[in-house]
Amino acid sequence: MQDYHEFLGEVLISEAALQKRIRELGEEISRDYEGKKLLLVCILRGGVLFLTDLMRAIRVPHAIEFMAVSSYGVGGRESTGQVRITLDLNTDIADRDVILVEDIIDSGRTLSHVLELLSIRHPRSLKVCALLDKSERREVAVPVDYIGFQIPNKFVFGYGLDIDDYYRNLPFIGVVDLKRYHGSNSD
Ligand code: IMP
Ligand code: MG
Repeated sequence: MQDYHEFLGEVLISEAALQKRIRELGEEISRDYEGKKLLLVCILRGGVLFLTDLMRAIRVPHAIEFMAVSSYGVGGRESTGQVRITLDLNTDIADRDVILVEDIIDSGRTLSHVLELLSIRHPRSLKVCALLDKSERREVAVPVDYIGFQIPNKFVFGYGLDIDDYYRNLPFIGVVDLKRYHGSNSD
């Protein structure tokens, strides 16, 4: 495995900046849902670090649920537009106040599909909280209610986001220098 220092182009969002912004998002959500009970639905796997920090910043009572989706096709750096559920919720979301917790919105295809699938289950409300928004890449319009950071059109990793399934554990968001990245098969 390559050490990430070998292909880190730059640290785009530091650990401190991430944590500060997540506390602000938690405050905003806590104000908006005062007196209510929430259900946070995390989209695996990228959203998992964000979820656990966001939960600690939210003061209203909330349950958590997980869902996983995958895009068909090869490559892994572009979503193909065809999204299927690989892990569904264990909870009935009818009449619940739901917030979807996502790592990043890129083309918007994944989110758009997930929103469609969840809205037909009649939640009382359904909002979206995404840590990162690469809005330049948007192909499908999606409503996003809470956004951590707008980012440029660059491939990023860390804090839940992977390159070929690794490096999710890093506490910051880095930009990959693809010229210096050799792929996970070349140890
Ligand atoms: P979308 O369907 O194009 O919006 O793709 C969203 C999904 O693609 C995210 O949930 C991520 O898993 C993945 N993704 C998009 N951009 C990046 C990136 O820069 N780094 C890592 N994963 C990404
Ligand atoms: Mg994801």
